[in-house]
Amino acid sequence: MTVKAKSRAVFLDRDGTIIQDRGYLSSVSEVEIFSDTISSLKLLQEEEYELFIVTNQSGVAKGLISNDEVEKINGYIDEQLREAGITIRQWYVCPHESGCNCKKPAPFFLNKAAADFDIDLSRSWVIGDHPHDILLAKNVGAAGLYVLTGHGSKHLSNLPIDVPVFHNLSDAATRILNPDTADSGNYCSIQEAASLLKSGGLAAFPTETVYGLGADVFNPEAVARIFELKNRPLFNPLIAHICDLEMLDRLTDDIPDTARSLIKEFWPGPLTLVFRKKEAVPDIVTGGNPTVAVRMPAHPMALELIKRAGTPIAAPSANAFGKTSPTTAVHVIEQLGHLGYKIIDGGASRVGVESTVLSLVHDKPVLLRPGGLSIEEIERVVGKIKHQGEPELVNLESPGLLASHYSPHTPFILENGGPVDNNDPQTGLLLFKRTEIISAGPVEVLSPDGSTEEAAVNLYAAMRRLDKMGLKKIIAYKLPEHGLGKAVNDRISKAST
Ligand code: TXA
Ligand code: MG
Repeated sequence: MTVKAKSRAVFLDRDGTIIQDRGYLSSVSEVEIFSDTISSLKLLQEEEYELFIVTNQSGVAKGLISNDEVEKINGYIDEQLREAGITIRQWYVCPHESGCNCKKPAPFFLNKAAADFDIDLSRSWVIGDHPHDILLAKNVGAAGLYVLTGHGSKHLSNLPIDVPVFHNLSDAATRILNPDTADSGNYCSIQEAASLLKSGGLAAFPTETVYGLGADVFNPEAVARIFELKNRPLFNPLIAHICDLEMLDRLTDDIPDTARSLIKEFWPGPLTLVFRKKEAVPDIVTGGNPTVAVRMPAHPMALELIKRAGTPIAAPSANAFGKTSPTTAVHVIEQLGHLGYKIIDGGASRVGVESTVLSLVHDKPVLLRPGGLSIEEIERVVGKIKHQGEPELVNLESPGLLASHYSPHTPFILENGGPVDNNDPQTGLLLFKRTEIISAGPVEVLSPDGSTEEAAVNLYAAMRRLDKMGLKKIIAYKLPEHGLGKAVNDRISKAST
């Protein structure tokens, strides 16, 4: 007798996970299925995952919508998915506000699915944009994946620090479908990473900007291995990451007043400051410069790692030299492979572009790289700053600011004007905001409503998705120069060929 193995399932939240969250929906015209929903669910289905939707609709109990309306909307979504070849095995709806046993994070519906459809919950997943989706997974011994769509960004700070976070459904599905990267043995806890760093090893870790590949600042052999693993030229100096101001004193004893005001205002955060270095800081960290770049990252896991390692951590972005910076752990493993380091998975980076680098070793602060903290914000605190591009400052002290960087494999073209229709299916478009144009090829919109911060968060993952499609070319359109627009424009112009 053969026993059929139990099935694996993916339980999906509805609002904010597979469709746009627009509050309590009462009409099908309000339904907007995310652009990556169908392709992601198809891939999961092809790998024989059973698909379920589990949704709390307390608007029914509150009298804001009727059961009929909910059913009509679910029926409509189900039909759209079915037309695309996707089968939702069962819809589970809790219409209550409280006092029931079925509202997420209660395990009721998942246990029911396990019994009715012979599902192995321990090999199943829950994807949602609310901490209660993660708790639901925990309650049944499944794995929870948190997405930043819907209310995901808003609730991120309420999430336990060990939960994997993804930009969207497509990134979460990629994690499920890549047991190679997921189970490669590269993943480790904060404590393991800290021990590894202390013993001269390398650890990749999440920060709010991008993932970093770290080594103990005061261990030159370990730092040298970062350059090897990344294939990075030695003259390109690294940023020292610290968790408190005592650590800053180990790196420099020249902290000008402007630095103190900036630190007070923006640390921890996406601002790197360049100081005169102490003798003890190894040349390999600073590229032989008499200065050292320092940053306190605003990421609870990064800060905890540095604290436990007990030393500043030298870390560049955790990508192969010249390639797109990683904003998730899967991106890091895709680029660096499996050998020579471990990684802490802290989910998707919240800012998405690297820190702003500001030098403080001149009479006035000098911008070396636009980044995750806008120039407007910095100038609010210290007044006008100089720009590296200003004539008298060219070739100053930024050896690492090479013109070409962050480059995808596909030819990447930067357009200055506004987007126009594209009739070539082999051309992908990278757009800033929702725009009324027609494109025969794939389109990535960095921020539908035109926020430069949101565009920065989505930039690298969007570039990667387009790059993976084997297109003839990618056309990117510039953002307005305010807020994080300058940093995003800097990255896309460096990526352009
Ligand atoms: O957000 C970030 O800054 C990320 C995360 C991991 O913290 N790190 C990062 O590192 O982007 P990396 O190595 O990709 O970029 C560091 C930049 C380079 O442009 C480098 O030239 C500049 O900082 N830099 C480092 N040390 C410097 C120094 N002593 N003087 C001038 N520029 C320096
Ligand atoms: Mg939701």
